[in-house]
Amino acid sequence: MPTLLARASGRAIPFMLALGLAAGGASAQNAYPSRAISLVVPFAAGGPTDVVARSLGAAMSKTLGQSIVVENRTGAGGTLASAHVARAAPDGYTLLIHHNGMATAPALYRKLPFNPLTDFAYAGQVADVPMTLLGRKDLPPGDMASFIKYARDNGNKINLANAGLGAVSQLCGMLLQESLGAQFTTVPYAGTAPALTALLGGQVDVLCDQTTQTIPHIKSGRVKLYGVTTLARIHALPDTPTLQEGGLQGFEVKVWHGVYAPKGTPPEAIEKINGALRAALKDPAFTQKMAELGAEIVPDARQTPAGLQSWLQAEVDKWGPIIRKAGVYAD
Ligand code: MLT
Repeated sequence: MPTLLARASGRAIPFMLALGLAAGGASAQNAYPSRAISLVVPFAAGGPTDVVARSLGAAMSKTLGQSIVVENRTGAGGTLASAHVARAAPDGYTLLIHHNGMATAPALYRKLPFNPLTDFAYAGQVADVPMTLLGRKDLPPGDMASFIKYARDNGNKINLANAGLGAVSQLCGMLLQESLGAQFTTVPYAGTAPALTALLGGQVDVLCDQTTQTIPHIKSGRVKLYGVTTLARIHALPDTPTLQEGGLQGFEVKVWHGVYAPKGTPPEAIEKINGALRAALKDPAFTQKMAELGAEIVPDARQTPAGLQSWLQAEVDKWGPIIRKAGVYAD
């Protein structure tokens, strides 16, 4: 009898074990997320990426039923945060929100410790954000035409703040100098939150920054606004001319945001993250806040993992030659 039982259980145990493991695996995936999710922001708290991340996290957590905790990891124009997420456990509990910097980094950094095109799983895109060209309140030029003359006459006496190599403020500043044929003195910060503080305090002269941070300061009149960086005027600032209207033919910089996870994150988790992202992009509290701050929710096709992946590939292909031609890079 004991022998029979042993023989019977000897066959039964592996089978039951396999059934149990499969059930446990499935319920682990069904249970995702069972704890808080970290959303890594590559720039300083209070800045434009942080503003989008915190509002998005709050909206997504309504669908996911767990908190999304924003973690600011600054440095090297956003590349430290991206490298951190690329190396994080692929379990759906570490996500990254990043902008155009994800696509420009391969050309800007010769020793990039991650590959944006192969080291991530893609959750979807969020919003497009225009930029604004700002001066400190007492900078002499009053409009874009006089700014162009002032910039050409004063060149490197002008301090241009940015958030480091790979930041969109750097990209915008680089294109601005190229279009003006002027060379400013660049002052890098850990994000455009501290860069804007420096502009408000008069420690720097000029900053190109996203409307998601700048609109409240423009409305309170604490900075001088020269123009928006989109080809068409924007709803949130209808009376503000574009830089193109102001004299910089073809000038255009638009910021786009994507949400990423480490490569190998289970497809079931990505599906839930994407579902929560798409629900957030229809959430009235989120969409209203984005509209007030000049941001435009991306069309449905760009809200998908495939939409982000193909967009990123196209942006890498677009910016690589422009940046290499400009000869801007870090070793
Ligand atoms: C930020 O959040 O500070 C910005 O996105 C930085 C930048 O790219 O200019």
